[in-house]
Amino acid sequence: MISKKMENMVANSSAIRAMFEEGNRLAKIYGAENVYDFSLGNPNVPAPESVKKAIIDLLNEEDPVVLHGYTNSNAGYEDVRQAVAESLNERFGTNFAARNITMTVGAAGGLNVILKALLNPGDEVIVFAPYFGEYRSYVNNYDGVIVEISPDTATFQPKLDEFEAKITPKTRAVIVNTPNNPTGVVYSEETIKKLAAILEAKQNEYGTDIYLISDEPYRELAYDGVEVPYLTKYYANTVVGYSYSKSLSLPGERIGYLVIPDEAADSENLNAAANVATRILGFVNAPTLQQKVVKACLNEKTDISFYNRNRETLYNGLKELGFECIKPEGAFYLFVKSPVADEKEFVAAAKKYNILIVPGSSFACPGYVRIAYCVSYETIVNSLPKFAELAAEYKK
Ligand SMILES: Cc1ncc(COP(=O)(O)O)c(C=O)c1O
Repeated sequence: MISKKMENMVANSSAIRAMFEEGNRLAKIYGAENVYDFSLGNPNVPAPESVKKAIIDLLNEEDPVVLHGYTNSNAGYEDVRQAVAESLNERFGTNFAARNITMTVGAAGGLNVILKALLNPGDEVIVFAPYFGEYRSYVNNYDGVIVEISPDTATFQPKLDEFEAKITPKTRAVIVNTPNNPTGVVYSEETIKKLAAILEAKQNEYGTDIYLISDEPYRELAYDGVEVPYLTKYYANTVVGYSYSKSLSLPGERIGYLVIPDEAADSENLNAAANVATRILGFVNAPTLQQKVVKACLNEKTDISFYNRNRETLYNGLKELGFECIKPEGAFYLFVKSPVADEKEFVAAAKKYNILIVPGSSFACPGYVRIAYCVSYETIVNSLPKFAELAAEYKK
């Protein structure tokens, strides 16, 4: 008999995964080229060549006992953490050192580590809908309580009035994700400043520490030169969770890091807790070979022009067909308004044309669907006539 908690989790198990399996099933019947699977955020741009070279060089040149061994600190190799800190300082004018960096098992591992370190049962964690549905599970893992802010469907920027009203003495953390999954929105500097001011005022009012957790797997995926503000500069109690899953196309390698700045409340203890959490959650340390790879590739980025071409073609194509959506400024998702109120009905209709998309209710935003455009350009181009047939169904 599995635990009560897991019973619920298994029952609600991700609609996205189910869709992925459906894609495989349809591909077997119709051929992969006739299935338009927009369900998963799995990058389809290969990792940069320098990643492959770094792996080969490391295997040839490093002492295998050290390279594949446990790291001395559960937070990761000291030289890797120092290099990450210095690269951030150079890019963002921050002042981090190795002690502020914990290498993690992707963003998901990092979020679990920081939530484990912060939450007492019943503590509240605020999230802005639409949001990455896994946050619900991560918060639930540590008996926290998710508090949702309803979506502003005109802009998909956070609704700050509602946010202010929902902060309580039990608010322990706020998670923001910009560039955003599933909307592609980047929170403007003005928004961040207002959000920070609200948090400062509420901390003073309640005499509590409220941590802002910035979940940033899409930081490098911003289009048209749009700036993604670095949040530690706006609010002292910020923790950054970064991942190389999308920026270097390494989602299966499970590598990222947390930044806990000295300025954050109780920073020393929080860094120590992140270290212990990494160990006791069973990660022990982030994958060692990949730690060294990212150190060697700190200045590398994925080929964003590939995603940009997909973004332009899909966005323009769908707009021409009469679909409503805002143009994403980052990440690789389009969040499209469903032509019928029940978006699950629309998702089912799309499947008739072998188009796989994810219902917005998975992101706490019903009435919308997510289209992940990290697919081949051919898939985008070939799907448009199918989207046209789908659109026609709703024009009758
Ligand atoms: C918003 C968001 N956070 C976290 C993650 C987890 O990323 P990782 O593969 O780095 O664990 C994802 C993955 O898609 C994501 O979209």
